[in-house]
Amino acid sequence: MARRSFVAGNWKMNKTPSESRTLALDLRARLEKYTKCDIAIFPTYLSVAVVSEVLKGSNIDVGTQNMHWEKFGAYTGAVSPQMLVDAGVRDVIVGHSERRQYFGDNDEKVNKRIFAALAHNIKPIVCVGETKDQRLANVTEDIIRTQVLGALIGITAEQMAGITIAYEPVWAIGTGLTATPAQAQDVHAFIRGLVRSLYTNEVAEALRIQYGGSVKADNAASLLSQPDIDGALVGGASLVAADFEAIVKAAK
Ligand code: PGA
Repeated sequence: MARRSFVAGNWKMNKTPSESRTLALDLRARLEKYTKCDIAIFPTYLSVAVVSEVLKGSNIDVGTQNMHWEKFGAYTGAVSPQMLVDAGVRDVIVGHSERRQYFGDNDEKVNKRIFAALAHNIKPIVCVGETKDQRLANVTEDIIRTQVLGALIGITAEQMAGITIAYEPVWAIGTGLTATPAQAQDVHAFIRGLVRSLYTNEVAEALRIQYGGSVKADNAASLLSQPDIDGALVGGASLVAADFEAIVKAAK
């Protein structure tokens, strides 16, 4: 089954609102012609309004890097799904390893965020990945299995259509140590197999699995040519318009 590629740019804690506006304008102009893949960018909460204004009517979706699962209330510092929808957000990253590492995110919270996102028609990108020690200890598949099963508890086959999974080996994020295409392909095929065993072959074949971790202009094509790699979740290189464009261009 042909899956549409999906390239996402995670800006992390970078770019002021005015810098975000400039980058979004540049991306809008550059990426207009790439109609064969889906594209989304993820600025900080503070820049979402200005970026979604700039990208209105374009082929680039706007998302956020996290989201609370509650609708409103006494949750200091948090942002709710309906606030995001009102601001033009259509996508959200959940369970990024930096959220897990620095902000106490875990599989249970990831599961709650997925449910809340889907209930508001926001499409989640669910991040999973092993650390360097876990890879060296040969427990990569156990870690991925636990994270995927934990994230998808209670999610129906129908709901799976709104979900993207991103395989992001923690040792490859921001380090310049990209997984080899073969290493990434192995884990992507493992994830697809897991989803097949949880749901149906049809659900597994329709699922898009992005690779993330030091994706750059010069390694994107070899990663994206792997049969089970359906796109990229790009950090550092998404902050430079020409680099992000080169990655989008490399997508199938
Ligand atoms: P990186 O980040 O491309 O800078 O390694 C990827 C990510 O964290 O999503």
